[in-house]
Amino acid sequence: METKKFISDIHLNDYTAQYEHKQACFSDAVFLGGRDRISLNGAWNYAVDQYDTCLRQKWFLEIYKDGKGFSLPVDYSFDEWPVMELPCCWNTEQKEYLLYEGSTVFTRTFEYEPKVNEEVYLRIGAVNYIGRVFLNGKYIGMHRGGSTPAFYNITEEIKEHNRIIIAADSTRRPEQVPTENTDWFNYGGIYRDIELITVPKVHIKDFFIGLVPDGSFRHIRIKAKVSDEVNGTGLLEIPELKINTEIPVIGGRAEAVIEADPELWTPDNPKLYDVYFSYLEDKVSDRVGFREIKTSGRDILLNGKPIFLRGISAHEESVKNGKALTDEERRENILIAKELGCNYMRLAHYPHHENMAKLADEMGLLLWEEIPVYWAIRFDREETYQDAENQLKELILRDRNRASVIIWSVGNENADSDERLKFMSSLAECARDLDDTRLISAACLVDGEKNMIRDRLEAYLDVIGLNEYCGWYSPDFNSLPELMKNSNPDKPVIITEFGADALQGYHGTSEDKGTEECQKYVYEKQIETLKDIDYIKGMTPWILYDFRCPRRTSHIQKYYNRKGLLSEDKKYRKPAFYVLQEFYNGLQ
Ligand code: GCU
Repeated sequence: METKKFISDIHLNDYTAQYEHKQACFSDAVFLGGRDRISLNGAWNYAVDQYDTCLRQKWFLEIYKDGKGFSLPVDYSFDEWPVMELPCCWNTEQKEYLLYEGSTVFTRTFEYEPKVNEEVYLRIGAVNYIGRVFLNGKYIGMHRGGSTPAFYNITEEIKEHNRIIIAADSTRRPEQVPTENTDWFNYGGIYRDIELITVPKVHIKDFFIGLVPDGSFRHIRIKAKVSDEVNGTGLLEIPELKINTEIPVIGGRAEAVIEADPELWTPDNPKLYDVYFSYLEDKVSDRVGFREIKTSGRDILLNGKPIFLRGISAHEESVKNGKALTDEERRENILIAKELGCNYMRLAHYPHHENMAKLADEMGLLLWEEIPVYWAIRFDREETYQDAENQLKELILRDRNRASVIIWSVGNENADSDERLKFMSSLAECARDLDDTRLISAACLVDGEKNMIRDRLEAYLDVIGLNEYCGWYSPDFNSLPELMKNSNPDKPVIITEFGADALQGYHGTSEDKGTEECQKYVYEKQIETLKDIDYIKGMTPWILYDFRCPRRTSHIQKYYNRKGLLSEDKKYRKPAFYVLQEFYNGLQ
C-alpha cells in the first residue's frame, strides 16, 4: 500500500467548511431516562491545537501509517499525548490554560461489543462552544452551543476497537449565542458527561409527562414520540398511582390524558413519582413531580395558589472546577439558597447541567432556566437565530419533565430593536409551542428614558423579568420608587437582578462602592421599596456568590464579579446575605 499523499490544508482559508454538515441538533435527541449508558468519562489524551491542525491535516484519518512501519512525519501522537480527566474545563485543569481560548483536541480508544438490532448514540453533555466528532477515521458531526447536549448516531461507525477524537473550540465569536462579549468567564472544554446510549432499532425518542394546566390538578398528560412512524400500543405505568394504561401509538406518536389524583409537587413537599413508558422492547423511566404553574392577572399561581418567588441568581461555576461543577457543588448551592430562605433560583445565563434541575426536583426548589441570548446578539442573522432556537429546543427537550423548572427564559438584557423583537418573540413562541405547561419570560432592561417597565417584548411573555440596578449603576435610589410608580404592568414582574459589588472584608461607609456596608445598604434600600409593590411576584438578586469575570479588573474585583452574597469559595457570607435572608424569612 503506497503511502498516502500528505494532507495539509495550510493554504485552505475556510478549512472548517468541510466540517459544517451533519450538525447535531434538538431532533437528534433520544430520551435518556432508564437507559443503559456506557460512560466514556475518564482519561483522554489531549493536545492544545491553537491552529486547528487536527482539522487541517485531518489527523483523524490516521493515514500516515502505511502498514509497513514506514510513515510520514506527523504532528501528533495520540497515545503519547498527556492525559486530562474528562469531563472538565481545561481552564481550571492547569495554570497555563486558565486564559486559553481556542481549540483543544481530545482522544481515546475504547472497546465495544456491537449487537444486532440496536442503535448506538454518542451523547456529549456539553462542549463550549463547538464540538467536532471523529470516530474510526470518519467525520461524525458537529454541534454548536456551549451548554446543551449533542447526540450522534454512530451505529454504522462503531466497531469492537474504536478511536474517538473530539475537537473542542471555545473561541468566542460575534455571530454565536452568546457573542464574544459577556459578563462571565469563557470556560472551554468537554465539560459534561460523554457516554454511549444503546437503544432498540425502534425506540422511544421523546417522553413528556406532566399535569395538564387546566386547574383540575387531576389530568396527567403524556406525549411520546417513537423513532419510526409506526402504529401500535404503548404502556404507561405509574405504580404508586395504580396507573397501568395502554396508550395508542399512531404514526409514531402517542398522546393521552389520564385521570389521576397525584400528591402535588411543591418546594416544601417535593413529591416525586416513578413513571414508566414502554413500546415493543423499549422501556424508559423518569422520576417526576406533578404540579401546575400559571399566571392570573398579576399573580403567579403554583397549584392554584399565589406564590412569591423568593429567589437568587446563580452562575454555573466554582473556583476549583469552572463550569464542570460536581453534584456535591450543585447540592451545596441549593442548600445555601434554602438557608437564604429561597424557594426559587435563576440559573443564569445559559442552561446549567441537567442534574441541577434533578436535584431541585428532589430538594424542592423552583427554577428559571435560560438560553444565552445575552446583550448584543446578531439579531439580524438567520443562522444566529437558528443557533439560539436550537439551544432553546435542546434545553426544553432535556428538562421538560422537571417539576422544578417553571420558567423558560429566552434571554437577558437586550436593547429593544425591531430585529431583536422579531428574534426574541419568535423564541418565546417556539418555547410555548414546545411546552404549554410553563411560563415564558426574559430578563428585560428598564426603559431608561421614561424610567419605567416598558419593552415591546413584554407582550410575548407570561412574566416580565426586570434587571434594575438602582443604588449601583443608577446611583439615585429615588429612581426605584419612581420606576415602580411609573409602571403599570398587566402581568407579574420578577426583579431578575439588582445588587452591588462587595469584596469580602472591605469596609467603609454605605456610600463607599465595593464595601460590604455599601452592598448591605443597597439590599436594604431595594427591599424597602420592592416589598410593597403589588405586581412584583418574585426576585432573584444578583448573585449567590462571586464569579470569575475577565471584564472586572479593579483592585477589589481582581477578575471577579463581586456581587455575590458569598465569596467565590462560598466560605464567607457578606452582611447583605442576612438582609435578604431576614426579608425572605419574613415572607414565609
Ligand atoms: C447585568 C447582567 C449580568 C451582569 C450584571 C453585573 O445585569 O445581566 O450578567 O453580571 O449585570 O453588571 O454584574
